[in-house]
Parts: sequence; C-alpha cells; structure tokens
Amino acid sequence: MTNRPQLPPEIARRRTFAIISHPDAGKTTLTEKFLLYGGAIQMAGQVRAKGEARRTRSDFMQMEKDRGISVSASAMSFDFDKYRFNLVDTPGHSDFSEDTYRTLTAVDAAVMVIDGAKGVESQTQKLFEVCRLRDLPILTFCNKMDRESRDTFEIIDEIQENLAIDVTPAAWPIGVGREFMGTYDILRDRLELMDRADRNKVAESIKISGLDDPKLAEHVPAHLLEKFLEEIEMAKELLPKLDPESVLNGSMTPIWFGSAINSFGVKELMDGIATYGPEPQVQSASPRNVAPEEPKVAGFVFKVQANMDPKHRDRVAFVRLASGHFERGMKLTHVRTKKIMAVTNPVMFLAADRELAEEAYAGDILGIPNHGQLRIGDTLTEGEAIRVTGIPSFAPELLQTCRAGDPMKAKHLEKALMQFAEEGAAKVFKPTFGSGFIVGVVGALQFEVLASRIEMEYGLPVRFEGSQFTSARWVHGPKDAVEKFADANKQHIAEDNDGDVVYLTRLQWDIDRVERDYPDIKLSATKEMM
Ligand code: G4P
Repeated sequence: MTNRPQLPPEIARRRTFAIISHPDAGKTTLTEKFLLYGGAIQMAGQVRAKGEARRTRSDFMQMEKDRGISVSASAMSFDFDKYRFNLVDTPGHSDFSEDTYRTLTAVDAAVMVIDGAKGVESQTQKLFEVCRLRDLPILTFCNKMDRESRDTFEIIDEIQENLAIDVTPAAWPIGVGREFMGTYDILRDRLELMDRADRNKVAESIKISGLDDPKLAEHVPAHLLEKFLEEIEMAKELLPKLDPESVLNGSMTPIWFGSAINSFGVKELMDGIATYGPEPQVQSASPRNVAPEEPKVAGFVFKVQANMDPKHRDRVAFVRLASGHFERGMKLTHVRTKKIMAVTNPVMFLAADRELAEEAYAGDILGIPNHGQLRIGDTLTEGEAIRVTGIPSFAPELLQTCRAGDPMKAKHLEKALMQFAEEGAAKVFKPTFGSGFIVGVVGALQFEVLASRIEMEYGLPVRFEGSQFTSARWVHGPKDAVEKFADANKQHIAEDNDGDVVYLTRLQWDIDRVERDYPDIKLSATKEMM
C-alpha cells in the first residue's frame, strides 16, 4: 500500500469487503444493520423476510435454512456517508470453502464477527486462515455484548493467540452482560451508550475530552467506571496502538465491541471500514498487474451462479472490477476466447433486489447475466490480453458416481452436471467406460446440495453412490503422449466438462506408476482456472 498514487475520488470512496464468521455469530443481523444504515432497507428484518420468501420457493433453500447455512454468495452495494460499500457475502459452511476462497479474492478487506461469549470458533478460524493467505486487512466485531460475554482481555488474548494477529481495541466495553451499557470509543474519545429499549435506535454518542473528563462520571455508575478505568489503563499498557499500516498489511486487527441486534457499535464499525478498510487494491494478473486507477476497464469473474431466478434459466457471473470506469453497453474482450462481449444488462445488487447497473468503478461487483460463456477466473478487458492470477482451483477430495433415477434422462443429467461444473459447484468427470458421471467435491455436504439442486432446478431425481475411484488427476503432456496414455489406460480415463483428460484411480501406487512409466505425462491434482 505504500507510495500508491491517489485514486480518483469515485474509486477512492469504494470499500469492498466480506464478513467472515462462525454460523450464529450474527453475520445476518449485522448485514441487516449495515443495509439499514446504508439506507438500502427501511426496516430491520427485511433481509430475513426477503430471505424467507426466497427460501420457501424451494426445498433446496429449505435445506439451506434448516442447516442454517448460506450456500450461495451474493453481493450487495449501499452508500454510507460519502462511501460506497460493496459487501460480498461468503457462504459460512466449511463444505463451501472453495466458493469462499474465491469470494475472498474479490474483496479488499474482511470483517470478522465473533460471538463475545464464544470467542474464536472453528469456522472463524478457517476463514481467517484464508484471509491470511492473501494478507487481507481484517476488522473485528465482537458481537452480542448485551449478553453474558467473556472478559475483554480474554477475548483479545484468544484472538491474538489462536490467529497470530495483533489486536488493538478501537473501543472498550463498559460493564458486561446485563450491566453492559456501552463502549468508550478510544479512537475518537467518545462515549457510546446503548439503548436497550429500542433495538433500531442509533446509540447516544457523547463527546468526552479524555479519560479524566468528569463527564464520564455523569453517565457511568461509579462501580462500572472504576473497573472500566482500570481496564483501559491496563489495555493501554499491554496492547498495541492502532497502526494503520499494520492493519493494511493484515498483521493487526482493530476490534469493536457491540450488539448487532441492538444496532449498537455498528455505525462505529462502519466508520472503521470507511477509515481502515482499504480503497480498491492492485489486482495480481499476468503478464502485468492491474491498478484500480487505470482508465481502462478490467474485471474478473470470481463466481458463477446459475438459475438465481428459476423463472429465467440464466446464469450470473459475478465480476469484480479491477480497474476503470465501466458503462452499460460497453464492449469488452473476453480474454479466454478472444471474443467481444457487449455488456448490455449488467446488474448490481441492492439488498435483495437486482438493479440494472448503468455504470460501475474499480472495486464494484457487477453481475453479468450470460448463457455460459463466462467462467470462474475469466478476465474481461477493453482489449488487452491480461489474465488475473491467484484464483484458486481445488483438488476434489471426495468422488461419487451420480446417476439419474430415470436412466432415460442421462442426457438431462449431463446438462445439469456440466452446468454445475461451470458454476464451480463441483468437478464432473465422464468416464470413457461405463455409465453415469463421477462428481468430485471438497466437502461431503456438496453432494446433498447438488442432489437437491438437480431435482429442484431440472426436475431430475438423482442418486449419488460410492465410486470405485477416490482420486482424480488432470493429465498434461504433448497431445500424442496424452492420447497414447489414455488409450492404454481406458479403464481409468474420463473427461471433465472442458473435454480435458482426467485419470481416475483409488491407489497412490497407480499415480506413482504413471509418473514412472510415462515420463512425458504430468498428473496434477488441480486444474488452473483459465
Ligand atoms: P449468522 O448469520 O451469523 O448465522 O447469525 P444471525 O445474524 O442469524 O444471528 C444468530 C442469532 O443471534 C439470532 O438469534 C440473532 O437474533 C442473534 N443475535 C444477533 N446479534 C445479536 C446480539 O447482538 N445480541 C444477542 N443477544 N443476540 C444476537 P436466533 O434466535 O437464532 O434468531 P432470531 O429468532 O432472533 O431471528
């Protein structure tokens, strides 16, 4: 982040981030409050209400609801103060880590929500590790302070130790549990008082001239004040001071304390995102990186979602704009196929509604409806042959055979599976020998989700069964060597959705043998997204 040129104001005001948390920590509630302050919704409860309406449309969504997981990621934009926030939703369940990883390639920062009584939970830890891989700046929100929560130092220690990141308090809680009355905003010397009577009311904010200001005693009962002053003295001694540079490089996280359901601490967190959640960052790409201030448009697809609206069998490719000023109708080059695409009906997502996007700037997330041309990892530019890098592809860890309940529907099944493969929901292999398809996923729950979606979206009941294979490897090498190899190993050969050759086996021994016997052939567990 050092020595970066000043960005044009429209780009500089953008903050593109994701929320990471363990299920139940309060991500949905916090999102709702963000939208409320962002003016995108008028009343708390609408995100959930809309969610319900959507969910009842299908069993798949029902399953999502029952399990308390969010399977599909989407992006929401709203204004806050002079900033434009783009919040990219991440699926919370660990079985969807693949999706989550890719989503996190599209943001410049993450907000980590933890439950004040539970501290750092397993899913928070996993998601944090993903952010760490990219050195993403992380802002922490310790939620549910209105309930019995852990001691503040204990929470901070746990984050520092489990996640190996410096924690600096942006605010300090006053009182715990039933006695929790608010926080002291350390960064701006303000007392924020929570109103328990009105959940949607913005907290009362009182300017204080410092910790020795007698005004503190007017608002805080003596026994709470004494403990608070003691703690904050200790915090000043023991905890590092906020250093914006360390926040930007991901080695320090500022922590806010609040209660999303009581709308408390949310605005301060939003101010924090505006101040410390960085501006759109440089995108790594080949043969050169893309800087947000470049006048020409470049963007990359980090997610493809099919059938978002069952009435229109469309797909939406989610594109993060890495540079430039996009205008509706622009003709962009689809770098992988070298074809020109006129982007005439891009959408932005305001709360749960889609809106036609007339324009967008570096940092924004656009939804581009398409019929399958756009895939994860694709780049769109104004002509230059640039490819984004760093979008990971994952080795499928579990393989199962998928069959249509009705054998006459094999063609339909193929179409459905190929579509999910392109969406990035699974790897799909069509074996040279035998019937059925082999589906590879990263987490077991993905099989269940796929089965529900195929039934819902294609009206096709399917079965997943154990496969004789447990590993898949992509076969690379000169064309004739690959053909010769495939011919000699037909029982193990399949094609993926791009027609690339894949070697299936259940034995590491087989893999070692191929590497020994076929020096021209290389096997790889992942296929790079092109
Ligand atoms: P998630 O998306 O991270 O899974 O969490 P979500 O926002 O759905 O919140 C999980 C539960 O925690 C919800 O209760 C929610 O109301 C509650 N919650 C969120 N923020 C706070 C807070 O600041 N204080 C307290 N005390 N509770 C909070 P629920 O009973 O599961 O759902 P609901 O019946 O309230 O909708």
